[in-house]
Amino acid sequence: MKQPVSSASYSSALRKARLSPLLFTLLLFLVLFSLLYGEDFARLAGQAEDRNAATRIPQLIERRGARPQKLPFAVGELDGGGGRCDVFSGRWVKDESGRPLYEEWQCPYIQPQLTCQVQGRPDKDYQHWRWQPHACSLPSFNATMMLEALRGKRLMFVGDSLNRGQFYSMVCLLHSVVPNESKSMEINFGSLSTFTAKNYNASIQFYWAPFLLESNSDDAIVHRISDRIVRRGSINKHGENWKGVDILVFNTYLWWMTGLTMKILEGEGSFNEAKDVVELTTEDAYRMAMKDMLRWVQDNMDLTKTRVFFTSMSPSHQKSQDWGAEPGGNCYNQTTMIEDPNYWGSDCRKGIMQVLGEELAESEVSVTFLNITQLSSYRKDAHTSIYKKQWLPLSPEQLANPVSYSDCVHWCLPGLQDTWNELLFAKLFYT
Ligand SMILES: *[C@@H]1O[C@H](CO)[C@@H](O)[C@H](O)[C@H]1NC(C)=O
Ligand SMILES: *[C@@H]1O[C@H](CO)[C@@H](O)[C@H](O)[C@H]1NC(C)=O
Ligand SMILES: *[C@@H]1O[C@H](CO)[C@@H](O)[C@H](O)[C@H]1NC(C)=O
Ligand SMILES: *[C@@H]1O[C@H](CO)[C@@H](O)[C@H](O)[C@H]1NC(C)=O
Ligand SMILES: *[C@@H]1O[C@H](CO)[C@@H](O)[C@H](O)[C@H]1NC(C)=O
Repeated sequence: MKQPVSSASYSSALRKARLSPLLFTLLLFLVLFSLLYGEDFARLAGQAEDRNAATRIPQLIERRGARPQKLPFAVGELDGGGGRCDVFSGRWVKDESGRPLYEEWQCPYIQPQLTCQVQGRPDKDYQHWRWQPHACSLPSFNATMMLEALRGKRLMFVGDSLNRGQFYSMVCLLHSVVPNESKSMEINFGSLSTFTAKNYNASIQFYWAPFLLESNSDDAIVHRISDRIVRRGSINKHGENWKGVDILVFNTYLWWMTGLTMKILEGEGSFNEAKDVVELTTEDAYRMAMKDMLRWVQDNMDLTKTRVFFTSMSPSHQKSQDWGAEPGGNCYNQTTMIEDPNYWGSDCRKGIMQVLGEELAESEVSVTFLNITQLSSYRKDAHTSIYKKQWLPLSPEQLANPVSYSDCVHWCLPGLQDTWNELLFAKLFYT
């Protein structure tokens, strides 16, 4: 009964159905509602079906996001007891013996910005949590299985420094099963870093493109530009470097958060002159990038052989009043997570999540969504805080007030981002 169909046929079915505008709005609302509020999709659709069987709309809803029968790399499904398991809906459980999946000192590749223990972090609790979905258990991360799947292939993370962290996490999860003489890491000072497992002829890569589109922040080293500008329609500039990749993992979010609007450069002019610059609301600018990303995937990836993932927004913990603590604090000195299951954090993420939900749902290409925002939002304990290599000496004023220079954006490794990769592993093999 629940025969999966491609979302392409969903869209055309929708068109054929010639919905009245009112009905269409209702349908859209239903879709958005379930996306935003995490309603059990099938159940919601099922209830609607009972009420309104004649219109056949409910099946259409249910098929939204339904994908071709078997995705590349998939070997099974995660059963959530009467439907697919939503691995992103769950809770953190303490796991002293099973976590972390590796020790910080066992992974020589982690950047000094993320090696919190070496940089003096006194507590370790943040390493000992395992994500437990409500409806199923995550499969154990199997490095050999991952490398076998990547034999003769490339896995590439494309995006900002948070995706770079996930890249290092993935390398740390995999490298221990590769013999010393077979592995190498090449960090070049351009945009691309590559870990190679020669015995598998497999590459795991990171490509710096914080907006995915071309921008004035694309220099992999010198990119702290206060007046950020993105060039419209420019995804091919970076996209040239993603062609031929077998598994792509995109992210982009933080760099768009420059206020309520984002500057967009129209045409071919230089970023420095910045003529022909228009301002879009952050949501509209972000939507433009999503559409470009999806179109690029459609034009350049053979989705019968390859997979594309998109990682949702990585939350920051900059303001202690967000979680009901005394104002003036941030993630500094936080060693426990936020207990409120409904905690969401700053509001601007909602608008972006909505754009993401809409664009991925409407799209005809199957991009697998790694919805890590909610599960990460509880983890105010997992940031690097002050335990990272500082590139510039700190002033006496800063040293006297650690909150002022605490990094509440990035995450310690091992830590939270290993879970993101466990989820990537789960969605790659068990859809
Ligand atoms: C992401 O996951 C959270 C937690 O399960 C859920 O509330 C939210 O609706 C999901 N977002 C999307 C766009 O699927
Ligand atoms: C990991 O995957 C490999 C290759 O598929 C398999 O041979 C091995 O049994 C798996 N290990 C575990 C613990 O499941
Ligand atoms: C090694 O992998 C690359 C893709 O990363 C592929 O193009 C090449 O053919 C592979 N070489 C061998 C000998 O399998
Ligand atoms: C691999 O290299 C690491 C770091 O250089 C070293 O500690 C380890 O002993 C080596 N392992 C083998 C089996 O040679
Ligand atoms: C860190 O937090 C604890 C309470 O959780 C508090 O007792 C301690 O004074 C704080 N330390 C610093 C340096 O702020």
